[in-house]
Amino acid sequence: MLRWDEPVSGADLAAHNGVMAVADAVVLEDAPTVAANAGAIGVENLEMGASRIRVDDKKIINCRADLNQLVPFKYTWAWDKYLAACTNHWMPQEINMSADIALWKDPNGLTPDERTIIKRSLGYFSTADSLVANNLVLAVYRHITNPECRQYLLRQAFEEALHTHAYQYVIQSLGMDEAEIFNMYREVPSVHDKAAFSLPFTQELCDQDFKTGTPEADQRLLRNLIGFYVIVEGIFFYVGFVQMLSFGRRNKMIGASEQFQYILRDESMHMNFGIDVINQIKFENPHLWTTKFCDEIAALIRAAVELEYRYAVDTMPRGVLGLNAAMFNDYLKFIANRRCVQIGLPEQYPGASNPFPWMSEVLDLNKEKNFFETRVIEYQTGGALSWD
Ligand SMILES: [Fe+2]
Ligand SMILES: [Fe+2]
Repeated sequence: MLRWDEPVSGADLAAHNGVMAVADAVVLEDAPTVAANAGAIGVENLEMGASRIRVDDKKIINCRADLNQLVPFKYTWAWDKYLAACTNHWMPQEINMSADIALWKDPNGLTPDERTIIKRSLGYFSTADSLVANNLVLAVYRHITNPECRQYLLRQAFEEALHTHAYQYVIQSLGMDEAEIFNMYREVPSVHDKAAFSLPFTQELCDQDFKTGTPEADQRLLRNLIGFYVIVEGIFFYVGFVQMLSFGRRNKMIGASEQFQYILRDESMHMNFGIDVINQIKFENPHLWTTKFCDEIAALIRAAVELEYRYAVDTMPRGVLGLNAAMFNDYLKFIANRRCVQIGLPEQYPGASNPFPWMSEVLDLNKEKNFFETRVIEYQTGGALSWD
């Protein structure tokens, strides 16, 4: 077997090619072909001399053209988001956690209610980001048949890994009980219920027999995208975001709060990418957006708002940090209305108002001059190459 780091002799190469020729012969019989309705997935056999790809051949789902050619670009919004995401690169260990560690370890540093919020936030997010990453890699990627969008999905998958890394970094820095935090989605009902709500969206598409290409299957994919990009990343993250950013606004747990600010910036871009994908699928496949389907999606969004409100009540039995659960009743309805309008559904809660206008300002982070103030400047982002 050839190793990437060993010099290759002629004999080795001939043996390797011989093995590969046999492997090709075995694989040929079962090589993926493009089924009548479904699209390519990117591992079909190469067709020598096939006609070159044209922009008009590209489709966001059920595309039958070669998926391994990034250009010519069709969906420039996806490529632009990929570039913007790379520009926003950050690492959890860039953020100084020393003030948080001192405050967390001081018995009088935080109230019990404040500690509950921090534990619940880390408990929900530490496994939720893993659920999002699994959904991307195991369910969504295969069925999005466009290289520009796949490029963004790969970047997003890495960012989800960074988010899980960030939570682990905070948990470890504060010396928390790791088992308590990572098991919370199996032990605390308000955390469990949100995770359990999102899992079926992934399970439906993980079925090996699942293929897009029929209206019913394409609606299932659309339901998954709305379930994760609009509901998980657009609703289920927001009680936690407001709570954790509220610590920073009060000069408490400023490192953890900043970790969540970076994550919020990433998540807001994930959601906007997802909404663009959803709207593009709708545009190319208007027959999917039936009244019945819209009613089903609206009901899912209302159920998610209810679950997230229950999470707010559970994490804030009393007022804390200038927040209380009733404020989230308004806030969640306000953001759910915005999400609905963004994907072309009617507002589900007409007249809902925003009790946290400062969240809109935080979301426009490019204008935040002090955003990087606690960043550890001596951090080295790239390791040097060594050939020894
Ligand atoms: Fe994430
Ligand atoms: Fe995300």
